[in-house]
Amino acid sequence: MASEKVKLGIVGLGNMGTVHVKHVTDLPNTELVAVCDTKDWKLQAATAETGAARYRDYRQMLDSAALDGVIIATPHYDHPDMSIAAFERGIHVLVEKPIAVHVNEARRMIDAYHSFKVQMPNLVFAAMFMQRTWGHWRKIKAMIDRGELGRLIRCTWIITDWFRTQYYYDSGDWRATWSGEGGGVLMNQCPHNLDLYQWLVGAPARIHGFASFGKHHHIEVEDEVTAYLEHDNGMVGHFITTTGESPGTNRLEITGEHGKLVCDASPPGEGEIVGGGEKFGYEIIFFRNQWSSIKQLRESRKGFDKVPCQREIVDFERRGNGGHDLVIENFADAILQGSDLIAPAEDGLNSIMINNGIILSAHKRETVSLPIDGDEFAQLLQLYIEESAKQEAAQ
Ligand SMILES: NC(=O)c1ccc[n+]([C@@H]2O[C@H](COP(=O)([O-])OP(=O)(O)OC[C@H]3O[C@@H](n4cnc5c(N)ncnc54)[C@H](O)[C@@H]3O)[C@@H](O)[C@H]2O)c1
Repeated sequence: MASEKVKLGIVGLGNMGTVHVKHVTDLPNTELVAVCDTKDWKLQAATAETGAARYRDYRQMLDSAALDGVIIATPHYDHPDMSIAAFERGIHVLVEKPIAVHVNEARRMIDAYHSFKVQMPNLVFAAMFMQRTWGHWRKIKAMIDRGELGRLIRCTWIITDWFRTQYYYDSGDWRATWSGEGGGVLMNQCPHNLDLYQWLVGAPARIHGFASFGKHHHIEVEDEVTAYLEHDNGMVGHFITTTGESPGTNRLEITGEHGKLVCDASPPGEGEIVGGGEKFGYEIIFFRNQWSSIKQLRESRKGFDKVPCQREIVDFERRGNGGHDLVIENFADAILQGSDLIAPAEDGLNSIMINNGIILSAHKRETVSLPIDGDEFAQLLQLYIEESAKQEAAQ
C-alpha cells in the first residue's frame, strides 16, 4: 500500500460511530475519507469538522469512496450484509459487536470472508472487542495462559453493572426488540463479557440458561439472565447479568487448583458517593495456593485441611480509556503490515454461540449442547419476532 495511512469509511453515526469518527481522525495510521448514515443530520454533524465525503447508502460509499477499510457501527442485524458487501469489493472490515445476531448469520459472514480471502489473502476482518485491551483482563489472560492457576475448576462472572433506564430503551426504536436487535442484555451489553469469558477460559460444551424477558423494563427481550456452563475439561461456569440493578456488581472469580483469582470493580470508600457516570476502578486479588488443591484433596490424610494460601494484590497496567482507538489502530496495522489482530472477527462466533445457547436453553427449559443447532435458534427468533408483531397489532 502506497499510503502510510489507511483510508477508512464509517457506516452508522450513532453513539458508537461518532466515537469512531474522532479516533479515525486522530490516529496516526488512519484517515477518515467517508461516512455513511441514513440520517442527514447525523452526516452533517459528523462531517462538519472532518471534511469526509457523505453517503446515505453504504453500497454507494463502498463503490465510490476508494476505501481501504470500513468500520461498521449500525444496528447488529445489518452487520453480516454490510461486511459481505465490503468483502465483495476487496475492502477490509472492522465490525462492531455483536458481529451478528445469530450463529447462522455469523457463519455466513465468516464463510464469505474465507471465500474472498482466497482471492485476496491479506483481507482483514476484525471485531470491536476493545475490552481485550484492558489491563486487568490482559493480566488475567496472561496468568491463565502461563498456567498459574493450573487446572481450572470454576469461573463465575456476576456482571450486573449494565444498568439501563427505560429512557435508554426508548431512545431508539430498534433497541430491545426481537426484530430490531434480536435480544436484550446478552445481545447488546454482554457481547464483551461473553467474548472475554471464552477468550479467558474457553468455550463451554453445554449450557443451561434462565432468562426473564422484560422483567424490569417495558421491553420484550431479556433483561435478567443466569446461566450454568459446563466445559469438557470439567470446569463449570456461572454467568449472571441484568440491566435492572443499581448498584450492580462486576466480579469475576476464577478458581484453579493453584488458587483463586478475583477481579472486582473496587467498592467505593466509606461515605464516598459513586455512580452517575463515574467508573469504579478494578483490582485483582490472587489467593495463591502453596500447593495444588487437587493434590491435597487426593493425598491428604486429614479430613478438613484446606491448602494454605497467600493473598496477593496483582499489579497490571491501567490505560484508563475505552480501548476503541487501540482496536482501530491495530486494524490499520493489520492492513498495512499484517500485524496480528487483537480480536479477529471469527472469534465473534463463540460469544454469539453462548448467547444463542442461553436463550435457546431458557426457552426449552433444558440443557443445550454446543454447537447449538443454528436453524433451531433462527426459528425461535422468528417465532419471537412474529409473536411480537401480533401483540403490537393487537394493541
Ligand atoms: N464496542 C462498544 O463499546 C459499543 C458501544 C455501543 C454500541 N456498540 C455497537 O455499535 C452498533 C451501533 O450501536 P449504537 O449504540 O451506536 O446505535 P445508534 O442507534 O446510536 O446508531 C446507529 C446508527 O446507524 C444508522 N443506521 C442504521 N441503519 C443504517 C444503514 N442501513 N445505513 C447507514 N446507517 C444506518 C442510524 O441512523 C444511527 O445513526 C451496535 O451493533 C452496538 O452493539 C458497540
